[in-house]
Amino acid sequence: MEIYRKLSLKTFCLFLTATLLAFVSETNAEEPAETQLSVLITGANRGLGLEFAKQFGEKGYHVIGTARSPEKATELKDTGAEVMKLDVTSEEDIAALAEALKGKKLDILINNAGYFGPTLSVGKNTAKINNITRQEMIDCFTVNTMGPIFVSQALLPSLKLSKFPKIINISTRSSQLSTDRSKAWGYGVSKAGLNMVTNNLHGELFKQGFIVISLAPGHNQTDMGNGDLEPVESIGKMIPLIENLTKEKSGRFWFYNGKELPW
Ligand SMILES: NC(=O)c1ccc[n+]([C@@H]2O[C@H](COP(=O)([O-])OP(=O)(O)OC[C@H]3O[C@@H](n4cnc5c(N)ncnc54)[C@H](OP(=O)(O)O)[C@@H]3O)[C@@H](O)[C@H]2O)c1
Repeated sequence: MEIYRKLSLKTFCLFLTATLLAFVSETNAEEPAETQLSVLITGANRGLGLEFAKQFGEKGYHVIGTARSPEKATELKDTGAEVMKLDVTSEEDIAALAEALKGKKLDILINNAGYFGPTLSVGKNTAKINNITRQEMIDCFTVNTMGPIFVSQALLPSLKLSKFPKIINISTRSSQLSTDRSKAWGYGVSKAGLNMVTNNLHGELFKQGFIVISLAPGHNQTDMGNGDLEPVESIGKMIPLIENLTKEKSGRFWFYNGKELPW
């Protein structure tokens, strides 16, 4: 009698272990395979956008780099990025991009494309109230402020397929309201507007799991910047910053070196 009791207990334990193992392996099988992270960078054919594409590609991301003229974006193609056409001021381009990405997950959107103005570059700002033109203001706003609004709007469905969606708006210290040095007119005012875009997107999307920040890359050696900082260094610091963003950091303004900036 005793031997039967021991045997049935042993059988029961074996049965339980087998059932648990089957359950665990079935649970694992149902988990979606670890998928490749994806990032879309606007204005990726030169300057900081190109360096973002290079370094995200080297880290194993699926990189979508956009360019106004994809046929000329040879350096971007050479990084291995998927190149797509996008002028951020074009409703047709934005709609076509959203259509092409329909149903595809996007983890990070970097609103990088930017326009400084017709004659001046960062660090050579001599624009004064008397020589600012209506057209310069319109052009800067259309690219720097409205571009990120409508690109973000169009790509929300793809971003919502990500577990941890992030929108990174590339801003500048020239947008800061809390310092008193004079700033480029069209550029500074439109980038201050971009910071408000960050604020609004954060306010609306944070509860849906999004992280949205403004990020200033520092004064870089590019066509626009003519600064001391090499893009390879600035981007090399911004990518880990973007990867390690936590919820508390959303809705705020960051410098490429990890320090927080006042608006
Ligand atoms: N470099 C700096 O020191 C510095 C400092 C602070 C902030 N930033 C910001 O960093 C970002 C990148 O700057 P960068 O120095 O790399 O500038 P950049 O060398 O002048 O490159 C600008 C990029 O934006 C694209 N772009 C301009 N207008 C566009 C439009 N309407 N639609 C789509 N793409 C457009 C350009 O494309 P095309 O080749 O077709 O013109 C180019 O790919 C900008 O948002 C800028 O404001 C730069």
